[in-house]
Formats: sequence, structure tokens, C-alpha cells
Amino acid sequence: MTISRPRVAVVGGTGQLGSAIARRLGKSGHTVMLGSRDAGKARDAAQALSDGLPAPLLHGSNAAAAEWGEVVLLTVPFASQGPTLTEIRAAVVGKVLVDTTVPLVPPKVMRVQLPAGGCAAVIAQQLLGPEVRVISAFHNVAAHKLATDAVIDCDVLVFGDDRAARDIGVALVEGCGLRGLHGGALPNSAAAEALTSVLIFLNKHYAVDGAGVRVTGALKS
Ligand SMILES: NC(=O)c1ccc[n+]([C@@H]2O[C@H](COP(=O)([O-])OP(=O)(O)OC[C@H]3O[C@@H](n4cnc5c(N)ncnc54)[C@H](OP(=O)(O)O)[C@@H]3O)[C@@H](O)[C@H]2O)c1
Repeated sequence: MTISRPRVAVVGGTGQLGSAIARRLGKSGHTVMLGSRDAGKARDAAQALSDGLPAPLLHGSNAAAAEWGEVVLLTVPFASQGPTLTEIRAAVVGKVLVDTTVPLVPPKVMRVQLPAGGCAAVIAQQLLGPEVRVISAFHNVAAHKLATDAVIDCDVLVFGDDRAARDIGVALVEGCGLRGLHGGALPNSAAAEALTSVLIFLNKHYAVDGAGVRVTGALKS
């Protein structure tokens, strides 16, 4: 079942990526709740981000946001992915969870270091179980660009084993003002997750302000 304009919860929504996505989705008319480990921090972030939006961003704990959302985005560092998913697991049963995690291993973030489980998205699906439809997206777009109202010259690949869930992810990407493209099954997420390290290298090597990915060719749906 697809939901035309779902309630979107952003777990870890006070961070760079989550707050930028929340603001763009809020601007496009979605109802969005920011989640945080600290509900006061979520409130402050929601207030700071809501200026000029059709409706203010809602705020709460990560658990409250995950409970409220029809679609739940996870935007926390790789090291926090497992503990955060464990905390919200019961609240996301029956829902679509959009994992944005890139398995960077500081300090060598310009080196691809995919985890033993294959990639972050597959780890999320294994942790949450089959009753949660995990998709992944937003790996290759710079948060500081999403945080502006500017047009961003890149595509966003969306991965997942369930076509209808991917459709929801593509619609959310479009709600952020970007072109979302189906990237295939969840294990394919490894390619985008790995590519982030390459993009960070390109940023440094060529002094690019947030290199991105663009798929060429005339795509027919
Ligand atoms: N930044 C980018 O340009 C970008 C682009 C593509 C993908 N990503 C991926 O998106 C995810 C989020 O990136 P980000 O740059 O937004 O991260 P971030 O700003 O460093 O952190 C996001 C949020 O995660 C929460 N958090 C931090 N440490 C935590 C912990 N130990 N346990 C639980 N929650 C914790 C914090 O929220 P509270 O303190 O409010 O709980 C924080 O605001 C990462 O996996 C990253 O690889 C980032």
C-alpha cells in the first residue's frame, strides 16, 4: 500500500542530514516530526527550522517520533545505527523505514570500509526483521546543500526489496526537490554507501563543494 503524503518521522532529526530533509519535506507540505535522544533538543531544532514552513515541524523523543510516523527516516551516525534501531524497533513494525546510514569508519572516511554484514541497509533489515520494509536513500547528497533552498545538481538512488516501499522513498526524495531513482534491491545499497567515500575523496582532491551523482540517459518509467 502506498501512502500519498505520509506523516514522516525523522529519528536523529536534529543532525545535519535529518534536519535538512525535515525542512525540505516540511516546505513541500509534509507533516514532519523531529526525533532526538533529548526531547528538548528536538524542540529547539524544530523551532529553528520551522520559520517559513506551511506548518511547524513537530518534535519529540526518537521513540515518540517513530511511533507517530507512518514513514520513519533514520539519520544517525553508523556507530549509533544498531542501538537506535533497537530502541525504535517495536514502533516501526508494519511501516517503511528509510535508512540513510553510510558506514563510514573515521578517521579514514575517504576509504570504502563496508561492514561484514554487507552494507548498513542490509544490517538494518536484519535487525528490524521482515515486518519492517527497509529502504535506503540519500547516501550521496551533501547535507549542507540540502539545508539550503537551492536546486541541487544530483540524483538520489533509492534501494529496497519492496517496490511499493521504494515508490514511497522516491516520492520523499521528490518532496525534497530532487530526482529519486529506483536503485534496485536492498543489497544494491552497498554501491551507494561505498560511493560516499569516493565522493568525499573527490571533494578533497578536486576541491568540490559536495560532489554528487547524476544518472544520464533517457529514463522511461
Ligand atoms: N551529513 C551528510 O552530508 C550526509 C549525507 C548522506 C548521508 N549521511 C548519513 O546520514 C547519517 C546522519 O548523518 P549526519 O551528518 O546528519 O549526522 P550527525 O549530524 O553527526 O548526527 C545526527 C544525529 O544523530 C544523533 N546521534 C549522534 N550520536 C548518537 C548516538 N551515539 N546515539 C544515538 N544518536 C546519536 C544526534 O541526535 P540527538 O543528539 O538529537 O539524539 C545527531 O543530531 C549518517 O549515517 C551519515 O553517514 C550524511
